[in-house]
Amino acid sequence: MQGDPKTRVLFVCLGNICRSPTAHGVFQAMLEREGLTGSIEVDSCGTGGWHAGEAPDQRATAEAAARGYDLSPLRARQVRVADFGRFDYILAMDRSNLAELISLCPANFHGHLGLFLDFAPDAREKEVPDPYYGGEEGFSHVLDLVEQASAGLLREIGDARPMR
Ligand code: 4NP
Repeated sequence: MQGDPKTRVLFVCLGNICRSPTAHGVFQAMLEREGLTGSIEVDSCGTGGWHAGEAPDQRATAEAAARGYDLSPLRARQVRVADFGRFDYILAMDRSNLAELISLCPANFHGHLGLFLDFAPDAREKEVPDPYYGGEEGFSHVLDLVEQASAGLLREIGDARPMR
């Protein structure tokens, strides 16, 4: 937040077991690769609390592992109003998640609340599709979108607040 040297990013989906943990793991790996873990922090959560305390869906973990990302330490949690006081970027996977976040957002939130795929302007979609009820290919598609948007988000944060 303002005056804080760290930039904090929160990825949000419905259950916090498929899409947002994937974004969390991919963005975390990108920060580690770029040596930026001291200046940017990442977390994820769900608008719903049904899966709170659970590890990510095994299909998400397997697809991510196949591309070198480790989702296994992550545990689901539900979004809380206090998140608006902590995070600078709160990024929803789809419009339904975003509508839920807008309904919770305090009037004094001055960060960026929007769709994650706004940072992937070359992607044809605007929303990361929910892969929960589909097959493995849905999880691979989620990773494709998440990798694109993560790169765009990192560029945006670097432009907004030069870090090195
Ligand atoms: P996510 O996917 O929002 O990407 O974590 C889902 C996970 C669980 C459910 C729906 C979507 N569910 O209905 O339990």
